[in-house]
Amino acid sequence: MDKLVIRGGSPLLGTIRVSGAKNAALPAMAAALLTDSDVILENIPQVRDIETERRLLAAMGAQVELGYGRAQHRTTINCRNLANTEASYELVKTMRASTLVLGPLLARMGHARVSLPGGCAIGARPIDLHLKGLEKLGATITQEHGYIEARADRLQGARIVFEKITVTGTEDLLMAATLAEGETILENCAREPEVSDLAALLNKMGARIEGAGTHMIRVQGVAQLHGARHRIIPDRIEAGTFIVAAALTGGDLMVQGCDPSHLGVLLEKLQECGVTLHTNGESVRVRSDGPLKATDVTTEEFPGFPTDMQAQFMTLATQAEGASIITENIFENRFMHAQELLRMGANIKIDGRRAVVRGKTPLSGAAVLASDLRASASLVLAALVADGETIIDRVYHIDRGYERIEEKLKAVGAHIRRIGELLPRRPAVSATAL
Ligand code: EPZ
Repeated sequence: MDKLVIRGGSPLLGTIRVSGAKNAALPAMAAALLTDSDVILENIPQVRDIETERRLLAAMGAQVELGYGRAQHRTTINCRNLANTEASYELVKTMRASTLVLGPLLARMGHARVSLPGGCAIGARPIDLHLKGLEKLGATITQEHGYIEARADRLQGARIVFEKITVTGTEDLLMAATLAEGETILENCAREPEVSDLAALLNKMGARIEGAGTHMIRVQGVAQLHGARHRIIPDRIEAGTFIVAAALTGGDLMVQGCDPSHLGVLLEKLQECGVTLHTNGESVRVRSDGPLKATDVTTEEFPGFPTDMQAQFMTLATQAEGASIITENIFENRFMHAQELLRMGANIKIDGRRAVVRGKTPLSGAAVLASDLRASASLVLAALVADGETIIDRVYHIDRGYERIEEKLKAVGAHIRRIGELLPRRPAVSATAL
């Protein structure tokens, strides 16, 4: 299993480029299931979750071409000849977002068999709101042997009020409603930029969607959708991670190819911490030369403070003067990184969904374990300011959502390298082969 080895102490200097958003690319790839024509997506990040999504669609019989060379961030998907409508446990257990195929498959093919995702490191994360919404659209849903079986001749438009704001729930129902008969009104929707980006793609495919980005979305169902070409939005969480990295290391970094309007509350919080930020078009310049000040954050749905930046902000709080209170409102178990930061010398007290972080505390390099995608990002940031060397294990978590992170950070001055298994394990030789 790969590890990252990082020697702390170097300020990040120069320009770093942001990739396309994983959380916009995944629903966009699932949306290709809604048509029998080509969907061409650009600015697709080369991360492991995209590879999983490719395998998921290919297993159903879709043609999925991932570009190479200059076209490496483009993918062309065609779902004309789907052989089956199943998302297997093998794939769903590695990536919960696989459940996003449920709505599109049901809407176009009238059937979907999707493994339930099961538990996750950061919380229970049920998909009950997806299922309730699809039932409201007229689907018959049964559960057997760990799988959801959903059937519908043609979905019927309906009014759906989400009990709780859910990002992929909004995206799943939005996709399903595009081919439903009549009008669907979705209320208490997620307003994340990734939801708006999906709606933009669907409208290019011939859907009739209004209100994406607000709490209420109206969809006029159509008989069929056609192909389209779409450029995926930049990854605001990757951008946020690099901005915090520069603030932490006392660097001067230009974070390029991002959309500052997607980063609002994060930038405000960093300015409260005393970080100097200049936004300009598609870039944010970060300079941090003075002491960081403690600031409280509470995670909320967009446009509130993103839960996917909570772990990275906790690392920053360990280097800020004073006590920061971090409240996690979205997921019930998203402080796993705190235990590893404590091993590096941080001062953090956890009380349920609240963490009190006291700083500034010098961190020292150590062997640490990544537990999930954003937790691993927070450990990379901690290692960049720690004294000595840190070895981060299970970096497959970070590869799920960050494209070539060690190369990008190295190019702006970080001492970081990836080490693989010293002696790649030889496949076991079966008894019969002897
Ligand atoms: C999306 O997950 C993102 N994933 C997550 O990013 C992100 O943390 C999350 O939204 C919140 O912003 C993708 O877009 C692929 P939710 P999602 O449904 O849609 C509860 C990352 O690091 N809920 O908005 O799964 C749920 O348990 C990942 O890139 C139900 O109870 O999150 C949670 O407490 C991690 N029933 C809350 O709602 C449901 O049916 C919000 O979850 C659905 C959700």
